[in-house]
Amino acid sequence: MKRGGSDEAKRRAGESAVEAVEDGTVVGLGTGSTTAHAIRALGEAVENGLDVEGIPTSYQSRELAREVGIPLTTLDDATPDIAIDGADQAAEGDLIKGGGAAHAREKLVDAAADRFLVVVDDSKLADALSVPVPVELLPDARTTVADRVRDLGGDPALRAAERKDGPVVTDNGNLVLDCDFGEIGDPAELAATLSTVPGVVDHGLFVGLADEIHVGSADGVTVRRPES
Ligand code: A5P
Repeated sequence: MKRGGSDEAKRRAGESAVEAVEDGTVVGLGTGSTTAHAIRALGEAVENGLDVEGIPTSYQSRELAREVGIPLTTLDDATPDIAIDGADQAAEGDLIKGGGAAHAREKLVDAAADRFLVVVDDSKLADALSVPVPVELLPDARTTVADRVRDLGGDPALRAAERKDGPVVTDNGNLVLDCDFGEIGDPAELAATLSTVPGVVDHGLFVGLADEIHVGSADGVTVRRPES
């Protein structure tokens, strides 16, 4: 799905992050159109002799990694040295992710990595997080989670599928509520609160996880290192 800015800016960000991947390492492979550029660049590096294994975060990233020849492993067998993943919005080091409904597995892999590199085009940068927060939930929890989100000041909308009647069903068999909280004053507090709601599998607020943000633009790439 088309999200964010130009494909050229996304490619620059993805390729920049792949330059940080060292021989003999395990790489978390995020999901989305920007990370897809990184996966293709990593596939090319593998073809040229780089020895890495990838841990995919979704059906999409697994299929693409297989297509470009990246050997795969799992979190049961390896710990990622580095993870490369996109975002829907980035403010300082905090992110909103889940535009492709893959955020639960993305958070699992990105948080497990020694270094987490975010790849975005410059249209994703903001002073404060404000796009709707994707919340993955158990199908039975749709009404109770939506009520709790309203209590917290949010406006939940069940994500509809585009080429299927009915809702998006995640790779994990769950549903997604896109929860509009407007501008989020305290992302850490909202993240912690959403995590306690029964039936929530995970949400798209990634607070304090990013080590580097590779920002692609029409002119090139800049790398930001959020203060931890
Ligand atoms: C997948 O669920 C998301 O977290 C993506 O990483 C995020 O939506 C960024 O995707 P694009 O790179 O396609 O904008």
